[in-house]
Amino acid sequence: MATTASPQALASPPTLPDGVDIIPRKFTFRDLDAIPKYWFGGNKLITHLENTFSILIPPGERFFIQSVRNYADRVDDPEFAKLVQAFIQQEGHHTRAHNDFNAHFAAHGIDVKREEAYAARVMESASRWLPKKIQLGITVFFEHLTATGAHVLFAEPELAKHMHPEALRFWRWHAAEELEHKAVAFDLLRKVGGGYLTRMVSVVVGLLWFGPAFAIMARRMIKADPEPLTDAMRAQAREIDRISREVQRDLLLAYFKPGFHPWDQHDEAYVAEFYASPEIS
Ligand SMILES: [Fe+2]
Ligand SMILES: [Fe+2]
Repeated sequence: MATTASPQALASPPTLPDGVDIIPRKFTFRDLDAIPKYWFGGNKLITHLENTFSILIPPGERFFIQSVRNYADRVDDPEFAKLVQAFIQQEGHHTRAHNDFNAHFAAHGIDVKREEAYAARVMESASRWLPKKIQLGITVFFEHLTATGAHVLFAEPELAKHMHPEALRFWRWHAAEELEHKAVAFDLLRKVGGGYLTRMVSVVVGLLWFGPAFAIMARRMIKADPEPLTDAMRAQAREIDRISREVQRDLLLAYFKPGFHPWDQHDEAYVAEFYASPEIS
């Protein structure tokens, strides 16, 4: 299946770069209970921001899956159809693993059920009211954001040093699969006639629809946590933001080029390195 990517070749079916395949792999926590309340740097602020992201992931990935399924019958190439199915399976596994991870927050006093219900309502409203092409465009944009986060996690080992090892193993598993399938929704959007304008409109709609929800949830979880937010935590959060910002900025800006393709960013080496590591055993 792995052949050289041909990002701009509309006439030929989408392919993967050499050495990359989309293989759904289940994740099992070795010791979920060992993950502390502040698993990222011992820092309340950063951990709640990451937890917000994690709680948004299960309904978000259900939204991604549905937005792709809406157009799955338009895929006539059997190889591309396999990639679409593998994308759906990977996101399904991610949803289940994040549900386990998120349920664990409840042991630390976080009202997980309330936040999950809120996140689900926001996602369901998008599925109900937005045009299907824009829903797919939003998936393409958020797949780029998750691939960007995944790239940063592998490209900046400094970040990993702040994370609890079990949480790191979990996020790296998810990140590697996000890199593997990062172009599937993009290639599908292009296949069904979604061009630059659709992508750009979807950025705006996606940010307006989901950005406030992220802010509301993060703020609510931080406020509900009685532990004090110290100056040292704020300083550490700024430092972690500084480490990732430069890489993130270039990748985010690349999305706004009309000829952008996810595999313009070569992440093959990170994927190979991860699967060669003992983390996946
Ligand atoms: Fe995912
Ligand atoms: Fe994804």
